[in-house]
Amino acid sequence: MVRLKSRKTKIIIIGLLLSIYVLICWTQFSSIIKFLPGNLTNRKTKKAIFIVGPGRTGTSLLGDLFNSQDDVIYLFEPLRAIHQYYGRDFFFDVDSSANNQEKFYAQEAKEFLKDIVTCNYQKKHDHYLKYLESPKMNHRRSKVLTMAPFCDAKTHKCRKIDSQLMNQLCVKNEYKIVVKELSFRMPFGRMSSLEDLSLPEHYQILLIHSMRDPRAFLFSKYQLHWFHEQQPNPMKRVKPFVDLSCSLIRKNMNHFLKTTHHEELHDHSTIKYKVLRYEDLQTNLTSLGNSLEKFLGFPSDIPKYFESKTRSRTRPKIRTTKKIFSKRFSTSPRDISTVSDKWRLMMNHDLVQTIQGSCNGVMKILGYKSVHSIQSQRNKSLLLFNGKPQISALIK
Ligand SMILES: *[C@@H]1O[C@H](CO)[C@@H](O)[C@H](O)[C@H]1NC(C)=O
Ligand SMILES: *[C@@H]1O[C@H](CO)[C@@H](O)[C@H](O)[C@H]1NC(C)=O
Ligand SMILES: *[C@@H]1O[C@H](CO)[C@@H](O)[C@H](O)[C@H]1NC(C)=O
Repeated sequence: MVRLKSRKTKIIIIGLLLSIYVLICWTQFSSIIKFLPGNLTNRKTKKAIFIVGPGRTGTSLLGDLFNSQDDVIYLFEPLRAIHQYYGRDFFFDVDSSANNQEKFYAQEAKEFLKDIVTCNYQKKHDHYLKYLESPKMNHRRSKVLTMAPFCDAKTHKCRKIDSQLMNQLCVKNEYKIVVKELSFRMPFGRMSSLEDLSLPEHYQILLIHSMRDPRAFLFSKYQLHWFHEQQPNPMKRVKPFVDLSCSLIRKNMNHFLKTTHHEELHDHSTIKYKVLRYEDLQTNLTSLGNSLEKFLGFPSDIPKYFESKTRSRTRPKIRTTKKIFSKRFSTSPRDISTVSDKWRLMMNHDLVQTIQGSCNGVMKILGYKSVHSIQSQRNKSLLLFNGKPQISALIK
């Protein structure tokens, strides 16, 4: 009887031990499952978002969207710091072999961008960081750079921004890095130079190529006198500028469209590329938001953000380029459709045809329709951005 009892307890104890063993094995096993490749890489991939495009295509507007979020370190045109520091503009002729100054700029730009993406600032770049707090930048500043440890909430006094402070900020929180830059400031005007930053393997760049109808953004630049040559005959200075602008866009798009074509094969390529058309901000924000969210892999508040900006009568908290350019040059969503269509009423048809001639390829790829008479140019019932885009890499 006693023996039987002890045998029973033995069995019970063994059973208990066994189930504990199985339980331990299972928890081990499931934690192993969690760390299977794929999951492991997903977890550890560090993403940085780049918004790059020609000026007047809505890059600032997109930047503001990200800057309105709390967990973002947003940098507005950081490469401008290099131009400012050396007191000159570096402009590139993409087809000429690079001279020494251009090579120097490219090297500096890539090193600085690497600091920014990895959030690991080198002391030797402090002179560029200084630019972020210059009075010129105040209203465009990253929101996080106006809070602790940079600025005192009560006195509103701000400290000098340097590599040490930036690195402290990065270590403290899981920030998303968002950079807005104009394409002409990328080394040699090429967005593909983002592939040459020598980033550690687990870094990935999500590149949003900001685009807009070339007739609209080139006209906007034209009005702002952003065409550089001082030619007495406006048409003479327009043509080379327009040619260069659109050939650069084409080169940049071609490079990434080739890459994204093979995206399925190389899922872990350093750069993921999509195009966002400014005109699509006036159509379906829900659908645009979903598409952006899918690309970024985290919620974007795009519909809420733009709807509040469009509807509210008060100015948005974060000032945009609005303050700098007068209201008629604003690209804020409240007047997106007015702004989009302005060229149709104001631009002379010869200029329109010049642009359509040089930018034909880009326009076709992106689904912008040409107009062949002054009547159809002025007729606003004819929508011109609803052609059939020839790429799938659109955020829409
Ligand atoms: C990956 O991790 C998530 C939680 O982070 C988990 O829900 C999912 O089941 C994991 N995937 C695999 C294949 O184990
Ligand atoms: C906008 O897109 C969403 C999601 O794709 C869709 O459900 C909705 O019907 C669209 N709205 C309009 C007005 O087209
Ligand atoms: C403008 O375009 C619409 C749509 O194609 C057309 O019905 C209309 O007649 C045009 N108006 C003029 C003045 O040409």
